[in-house]
Amino acid sequence: MKNLKKLLALALAVLFVFSMAACGKSDSLTVEDGKLIMATNASFPPYEYKEGNDIVGIDAEIAKLIADKLGLELEIADIEFDSIIPGVQKGKYDMGMAGMTVTNERKEMVNFSNSYAKGVQVVIIKDDSEIASIDDLEGKKIGVQQSTTGDIYASEDYGEENVTKYANGNLAVEGLKAGKVDCVIIDNEPAKAYVKANEGLKILDTSYADEDYAIAFNKDNTELQTKVNEALKELIADGSVQKIVDKYIPAE
Ligand code: ARG
Repeated sequence: MKNLKKLLALALAVLFVFSMAACGKSDSLTVEDGKLIMATNASFPPYEYKEGNDIVGIDAEIAKLIADKLGLELEIADIEFDSIIPGVQKGKYDMGMAGMTVTNERKEMVNFSNSYAKGVQVVIIKDDSEIASIDDLEGKKIGVQQSTTGDIYASEDYGEENVTKYANGNLAVEGLKAGKVDCVIIDNEPAKAYVKANEGLKILDTSYADEDYAIAFNKDNTELQTKVNEALKELIADGSVQKIVDKYIPAE
């Protein structure tokens, strides 16, 4: 009788372990069942920024519609920009959505959705700056957001020693205002938002680089990538994406 009880307990334990393994990550669509966890860096208006405790913006709203279509609850994690791709690779987050530019280097680390927006790298200067065009950047002190394409291109073109890397775009703009750098290279829409929010700044007429924004996924989760692409396609086709863009970027 005692042995039988032991045997039963053992059998239950074995069953338990097997059933746990069965609900393991490998066969569910997302990191946490029923949730779509998006990693972003919310100091990048109008794509993602904080309004009180909420994270709002173009990316946040598109992600919400995607999650709805997939029957998942959207959760947004606000982290450093350069932690997004490693976090997606490690399987901490389902996707990275942060006005993120598709680059060949990043493609080696993550899979990208179809592009849902265009970006342009531009140069912010002070109103009284002697920088009049891109040709004047040689030897100037350039501020960027760490690990962004602005950082990567500027470091390549003008030398790492001339580039100051800030944790986010806001801090780079603070650096420019304080005279620590001569200009900031950053994406055009955030640049417009920063210039609007700060006196005495302007954007150079000539742009620095054209880019495509897309959502990043873990290389192993092509199922989620495919489903998000389908949802995105529908949301672009029915005008939902454009409606969100128009809300945050009013026509001039
Ligand atoms: N488009 C640039 C890049 O991919 C900057 C993106 C920064 N995004 C953010 N949410 N802070 O490198």
